[in-house]
Amino acid sequence: MYILVTAILGALILLLFYVKTSQKLLYWKERNFPYAEVTVFELYRKMSIFVFRLKSMDAVVKDMYDSGAGMKYFGQISLIKNQIVLRDPDMVYNVMIKDFSHFIDRPFPVDEKNDPMSAHLFALKGDRWRALRYKLAPTFTTGKLRTMSKQLFDSADSTVEYVSHKHEPLDTKQLIYSYTLSIIASTAFGMKVDAHKYLDGERSQFVDMSLKFFQITNLRYFKFIVITFLPKFSKAVGLRLTEDDVKDFFFGLVRDIIQQRKETGRKSNDFLQLMMNIKEEDEKYGEKMSETKREMVNHEEEDKELFENLDTSKKGTQQFEFTDTNMAANTFIFIAGGSETTATALTFALYELSNNPAVQQKLQDEIDSTLIDQELDFATVSSMAYLNQVVLGEFMYNPV
Ligand code: HEM
Repeated sequence: MYILVTAILGALILLLFYVKTSQKLLYWKERNFPYAEVTVFELYRKMSIFVFRLKSMDAVVKDMYDSGAGMKYFGQISLIKNQIVLRDPDMVYNVMIKDFSHFIDRPFPVDEKNDPMSAHLFALKGDRWRALRYKLAPTFTTGKLRTMSKQLFDSADSTVEYVSHKHEPLDTKQLIYSYTLSIIASTAFGMKVDAHKYLDGERSQFVDMSLKFFQITNLRYFKFIVITFLPKFSKAVGLRLTEDDVKDFFFGLVRDIIQQRKETGRKSNDFLQLMMNIKEEDEKYGEKMSETKREMVNHEEEDKELFENLDTSKKGTQQFEFTDTNMAANTFIFIAGGSETTATALTFALYELSNNPAVQQKLQDEIDSTLIDQELDFATVSSMAYLNQVVLGEFMYNPV
C-alpha cells in the first residue's frame, strides 16, 4: 500500500512538472516569433548538461546556436529565462557595436553591497552601466592604447627572452597566459610582473590571486548556478562569487597604489591612472568639462563608432562617482575579462599556425619585411595586413 501511494504521488508530481513545462514550450509560438522547437525531455536534458557541467560552456553555446539552423534569429526556450539568439552577423554587429548602448543588461550577477568586486562595467546593469560606460569611454580609445603599446612590447620581449633559454617543451597556454597577465598587470595596475617566472615556481601573489579567480571548483560553480538562477535569494543570504582573499588582495592593492600616487604625486601610464584622472577632473571642474565631452568632439577617426554610439541622454550622462572600491572592481575586470580571453585566442592562433606552416611562413615574411625599415610600434603592427587577417581568421575558426 505504502509503495502504491508513493508511486501514485511520484507519478502525479511528474505529471505536474510535465504539464507546467509543456506550457513553457508555447512561449514563442504564442507570440508568433520564430523559435527552435524543443521537447520537455530535451529541456531537462539541456538544463542537466549546464548544471552538472557535462559539456564545456562553448559546447553549450554552440548547441544553442545550432538549434536555430537556417534562421537569422530565433527564440530559445529555457526552463529559467527564454532568450532571443542572433545568428545573422549584421544583427550581431548592430547589437554589439552600433546599438550597444541600448543593450544595458547582462545576465551576470551584481551585488554592489555584498560583492563590490561584481560591480564593474562587464556586469553592471541599467542606468548604473550607462553612466559608467559614458564615463569610461575615453579610456578605451586608440590613442590610449597607443600610449600603452610600449608596455605590451616590453612584456613580449621579456617572454621571448624567457622562451629563448628554455630547452624543454613548454605548455603554450600557460606561457601565453603569463604573457597576457604581465601585460594587464602593467597596463591596468602599472605593475611590473614577470608572470612567466611563475612557470618556474617563483611565487607571486598577483598571479596566485588572478589564477584563483579562474579556478572554477565545484563549489564555486554551484554558487554560480545559485546566484544566476536565484539572484534575490543569493542577495538576501549574502552569497558571492568572488572569494574573500581574492577580493581583499585586489582591493588592498588598488587602495595602496592610489594612496602612494596621491602621496608622491607620481603618475603612471595605466588604466587605474586614467580613472584617477577622470575622478580628479570631475572634482575640479564638474561634469561640464568631462573628458567624454571633449573626446566626443575631438576623437580620432578610429574611435568614431565608440563615441557616435554613446548614450548621451540624461540617463547616459548622469553622474557616476568613482570610489576606491569601484575603481578596484573596474581595474580587476581587466584581469577577469582580458587575460584569459586574449590568452585563449592567442593560443588557438599559435595552434592553427603550427598546423599551417605555409601561413606561418607568409606571416613571418610579412613581419620580417615590415621590420626592415620600420620600428615596432602600434602603427607598424596595425599596418600588417596579413597579420590582421590571421587574427580575424583565427576568431572565425575558434570563437573565444
Ligand atoms: C579575445 C579577447 C576578448 C574577447 C573575445 C572579449 C569578449 C567580450 C565580449 C563578447 C564582450 C561583450 C559582453 C556582453 O555584451 O555581454 C566584452 C565586453 C567587455 N570586455 Fe572583452 N573580450 C576580449 C578582450 C578584452 C580585454 C583585453 C579587456 C580589457 C583589458 C576586455 C574587457 C572588457 C570589458 C570591460 C567589457 C564590458 C564592456 C562594456 O560593457 O561596455 N575584454 N568582451
